[in-house]
Amino acid sequence: MGIFILRIAVFVSGRGSNLKAILDSRDIQENIEVKAVVSDKIDCPAFSIAQKFSILTFSVGNKIGFMNYEELRESLQSLEVELIVLAGYLKLIPNNFLSFYKGKIINIHPALLPSFGGKGMYGINVHKAVFESSAKVSGATVHFVDETYDTGKIIMQRCIDISDVKSPEEIADRVLNIEHEILPFVLNKFAEGKIKIVGKRVIIN
Ligand code: GRF
Repeated sequence: MGIFILRIAVFVSGRGSNLKAILDSRDIQENIEVKAVVSDKIDCPAFSIAQKFSILTFSVGNKIGFMNYEELRESLQSLEVELIVLAGYLKLIPNNFLSFYKGKIINIHPALLPSFGGKGMYGINVHKAVFESSAKVSGATVHFVDETYDTGKIIMQRCIDISDVKSPEEIADRVLNIEHEILPFVLNKFAEGKIKIVGKRVIIN
C-alpha cells in the first residue's frame, strides 16, 4: 500500500462493472480503499461484488429497511470516507448530503457531456440518443456532481469513433470499455492529489 490511502465510497444501482474495474485496478489497490458500497436498492447486483471483497454495503432511501441520507452520512463519516464515486447510481443526491460532501462527489457518465446528459439520460437511453443523432463519436465523462444531473465540472473525458456502429448496444459496449479505464485513472489521480480546480477548469497533473 502507498503512504496515503484515499478512502472512497462507491454508489451503484446496477450490475457494478465500474465498481469491479475499480477493485481490479492494480494502481488503485495501492492508493485507494473502498470503504463502502451504497445503493438505492436492497438487492443491488453490485452488492455481490462488494461482498466478494468484504466491503460494507448500505441501502439508502425512504423505504422500510433502508437508511436515510443523514444516517448514511454518519456511517460514511465514521468510516472516514473522503471521496464519493457515483458509478451507475441513478438517484439524485439530496442537497444536504451534497453540501456536506461539496466538491467530493464525482460521477461517471457514458457520453461526452455536456451533450446527452440530464434527467432520464442513463443506461441505454443515452446510447439510443447518441445513435439516433448520428453522432460519429461518443465516449465517457468523469465529472464533479452538483445539484442537477450531469452539469458539474468535467474532470476527464475520452472519446471513441462510432461511425461504423449498427446499434445503441454496440455504442454501450465500446463506451463501457472506456469507462473502465478512465474511472480508475481519475481515482488514482485523486489519491495522488493531482486533480485541482483552477479557475473554471479542472486540471489533472
Ligand atoms: C455505466 O454506463 C455508467 O456510466 C452509467 O451506468 C452504467 C453502469 O454500469 N452511469 P455498471 O453498473 O458500472 O456496470
